[in-house]
Amino acid sequence: MSTETVEKEPASKIELAPGVGGGGEIPTFDITLKVRRYNPEVSDDAHWDEWKLTMYGTDRVLDALHKVKWEHDGSVSFRRSCAHGVCGSDAMRINGRNRLACKTLLKDLDTSKPILVEPIKGLPVEKDLIVDMEPFFQSYREIMPFLISKGHEPSAERLQSAEERERYDDTTKCILCAACTSSCPVFWTDGQYFGPAAIVNAHRFIFDSRDDAGDMRLEILNDKEGVWRCRTTFNCTEACPRGIQVTKAISEVKQAILTRSV
Ligand code: SF4
Ligand code: FES
Repeated sequence: MSTETVEKEPASKIELAPGVGGGGEIPTFDITLKVRRYNPEVSDDAHWDEWKLTMYGTDRVLDALHKVKWEHDGSVSFRRSCAHGVCGSDAMRINGRNRLACKTLLKDLDTSKPILVEPIKGLPVEKDLIVDMEPFFQSYREIMPFLISKGHEPSAERLQSAEERERYDDTTKCILCAACTSSCPVFWTDGQYFGPAAIVNAHRFIFDSRDDAGDMRLEILNDKEGVWRCRTTFNCTEACPRGIQVTKAISEVKQAILTRSV
């Protein structure tokens, strides 16, 4: 195990001038970051590496991972893109909970103990914090996440009232991070269940008044691996970084299958 411990160091490569960021010096604190490492080219077994880091009070878990990668061990692997909670690429288990690393402030965690960072569960780990998202996106593609309408293309916009738009507003917020699906115990069992995220994205079109393929999507989700496997544990709702009422959306899709009224 290549555990690396370092002496006290500057909190960041970026030197902030006094007063930057609203005035005054930004306080620093020390953390221990433990990352679950896995590299199938080196070993079949995973292990933990840890680093002691000095971080700013405004830093997030993603900043700590960057610091490790840029200053201590460039082989640490994780996905990220926007760094601002938009792209959905850095969902990971932080202290046992699915979260976005870019939205999790270190100061909000218990820094008296090591901060544990692991890959999300239920999807094959490729390297360190990177999982194979293909099974997740396969379910997403199967629910046809795009507008399907009958008849000729209209010559003007497809109109919709504010009330009709409101009906599926919550489920438009999904960023496909997989925090919900990979926190679901049913998904962990065999990975066959469509999972919360696919159902959320089906909901977004099933309840869109401009869409004409709601029945097809309900038929797909009436499958033995569809909505009826949901056990209403609410893990998905708690995990969602966008605050989507995931369990409620799944319940509404179940209800729509029973009544076929969308
Ligand atoms: S519903 Fe929430 S947790 Fe699930 S994929 Fe979408 S944004 Fe992520
Ligand atoms: S890096 Fe884009 S959501 Fe976190």
